[in-house]
Amino acid sequence: MLLTTAAERRVVFVGGKGGVGKTSVASALALMQARAGRRVLLVSTDPAHNLGHLWQCDVGPSARALAPNLDAIELDPQATVAAHLEQVGDALRRLMPAHLAGEVDKHLSLSQDAPGMHEAALLERIAELVHDGLDRYALIVFDTAPSGHTARLMALPEMLSAWTEGLLQRQSRSERFGTALRNLGRDDGIGARALGGQAQAATPADRDQAIRSLLHRRRHRFEHLRRTLANPVTMAFFIVLAAERLPVLETIELHAQLARAGIDVAGLVVNKRSPADAGAFLAERHAQEAVHLQTLRTALPDPPLQQLPLLASDVVGIDALAAFGALLGCPHEMA
Ligand SMILES: Nc1ncnc2c1ncn2[C@@H]1O[C@H](COP(=O)(O)OP(=O)(O)O)[C@@H](O)[C@H]1O
Ligand SMILES: [Mg+2]
Repeated sequence: MLLTTAAERRVVFVGGKGGVGKTSVASALALMQARAGRRVLLVSTDPAHNLGHLWQCDVGPSARALAPNLDAIELDPQATVAAHLEQVGDALRRLMPAHLAGEVDKHLSLSQDAPGMHEAALLERIAELVHDGLDRYALIVFDTAPSGHTARLMALPEMLSAWTEGLLQRQSRSERFGTALRNLGRDDGIGARALGGQAQAATPADRDQAIRSLLHRRRHRFEHLRRTLANPVTMAFFIVLAAERLPVLETIELHAQLARAGIDVAGLVVNKRSPADAGAFLAERHAQEAVHLQTLRTALPDPPLQQLPLLASDVVGIDALAAFGALLGCPHEMA
């Protein structure tokens, strides 16, 4: 199920609780698709990175090759926020007069820990990767952070798009106001004050144009991301879980949160399923898991479900990933 669905999509998100096997599934999926001849970009947005451990090499913020046709990136939220604020700071300093540079710095350092800042910066980077990456890659696979974080992220494009739209409207009003004042021959930069400071560094017209184009580019990216995420033809979201009580409940909750954000769940991946035929102890676990799966299926009867067996050893290195990947194509239904 996983492989056949992913083969038809351009963007795949793998989400779920920590430790359930998101990175293993995302990596194996990416590897199988790369081996099938598609150019694939694998992106981890989880602060608890383990692409590097799994692939036994260093993965960082810029794309590096893991295998033929397969590149990978690890986005570090802290570094992403810093880069994002630096970019915003550059734009602000360019647009604001020199004597306000100190204010800009103060504002930015306070922003570092503002609520939602990590998500916003991460989303901006995801939007950029999806926007630019789809020109170069046939498939982008996101290995995401544990549930709550991802669901908030998925609801953000809508919010940020609306927010940017609001700014644009304000900007356009202050631009009109500025023009009216200029026509009266007494432009004193009041339009700039509406945006947080007086403009001297650039002419008001230059400044307005620069801010507009910045906001336009941003809105365009968020809208592109939102369209991509909400389009089940291009995008698939897989939830990985273990057949245990809490992961099942969290999966049901994540599914509801995603539905509220307009995102369809393309599949449920029940990983580390205990074998029924390897002794009495594991058989009992298997039966217990079946009860939890029943709860899952009662709440979420529709998404395709795939089970993956508990393996004797960790999924580490390209050979183990390929072997794990071979299981992703198998049709496993409910036991
Ligand atoms: N089917 C499986 N059988 C046995 N171990 C697994 C299986 N899937 C994943 N693992 C192991 O479980 C651990 C957590 O997997 P990982 O993919 O890093 O989870 P996540 O990204 O969701 O935190 C890793 O050590 C991985 O090798
Ligand atoms: Mg992981």
